Amino acid sequence: MYKIAVIPGDGTGPEVTAEALKVLNAVAAKVGFKYETQTYDFGGDRYLRTGEVLPESAPDELRSFDAILLGAIGHPDVKPGILEQGILLKLRFSLDQYINLRPVKLYPGVWTPIKDKGPEDIDFVVVRENTEGAYVGMGGFFKKGTPDEIAIQEDVNTRKGVERCIRYAFEYTRKRNKARQLTLCAKTNVLTYGHDLWDRVFHEVGQADYPDIKREYAHVDATCMWMVKNPEWFDVIVTPNMFGDIITDLGAMIQGGMGIAAGGNINPNGVSMFEPIGGSAPKYTGKGVINPLAAICSMQMMLEHLGEEKAAGLVESAVAWATSEKLKSLSAGQMGYSTSEVGDMIAQRVADS
Ligand code: IPM
Ligand code: MN
Repeated sequence: MYKIAVIPGDGTGPEVTAEALKVLNAVAAKVGFKYETQTYDFGGDRYLRTGEVLPESAPDELRSFDAILLGAIGHPDVKPGILEQGILLKLRFSLDQYINLRPVKLYPGVWTPIKDKGPEDIDFVVVRENTEGAYVGMGGFFKKGTPDEIAIQEDVNTRKGVERCIRYAFEYTRKRNKARQLTLCAKTNVLTYGHDLWDRVFHEVGQADYPDIKREYAHVDATCMWMVKNPEWFDVIVTPNMFGDIITDLGAMIQGGMGIAAGGNINPNGVSMFEPIGGSAPKYTGKGVINPLAAICSMQMMLEHLGEEKAAGLVESAVAWATSEKLKSLSAGQMGYSTSEVGDMIAQRVADS
């Protein structure tokens, strides 16, 4: 019996989460595993109502679950940063979800802005460090608001944090067993301390423990170029937090948009949290037009993470069937179906498979 915490969140988060749960229900019945869910109302509405971003007890409570499904965090009436820092980053950090795993996979039938590239070319995974770098919130102001103002924002890279991320990426590359190639994406020519550490650890660990995995290096700017020009060159990319944030939005675009981009915040020794990477899309809230596939694919990643390989495979095939045979587009309002119709069709397909 899996215990799954559900945080539908803000904007279109609840709508897409409902569809992910619909598919979870169908695949559990099909494959024969049991689960129970508990829903938490964390998000902008709760904050505006109560003044509390996240109850202090939340991280400890969430630790007792097998996984967390998150819809989206971000509310138009709340100043940017409050909910992101107070809920999303707070959970990633306090639950020590030190990996952000973001597949960039072009499903069949999906339009990509990259001419002459297809599903066989766009299929790689970004392993983003998720608890350090520029995200730690260390720094401050001096003489704020004066002409002499100084603002410092630290980029923190620890040996332990870098090494555990790099080891995870090597293990993942080995397990994925595709090109068996891991690319470090950094900026060693400018960030000559922090990324020197990344570079040294990458080669040390790779040479000692993963001689079977080919090591490549690309600066982050060049990575952006290659992702567009020759995406087929990538198998697995490992990268610091901020670069991972940026290149996975680019990745989402080449795989057909935010409608399908999924991710997992992974703590290999604790509780992990799965979320579509797109955000709360407030302008579409309640219209039933948002694409639930990213949430469904996040739930699929959760199944994989829980070791429910068969269930994960069924969901993935159903998504591929929908993109190739059914949906006109992955964009909100242009799918040819409503949000819940897409959820229904995937659930039905899983049940019939
Ligand atoms: C993401 C988001 C977050 C991040 C924001 C909302 C803090 O952009 O999950 O990629 O930067 O990590
Ligand atoms: Mn982002």
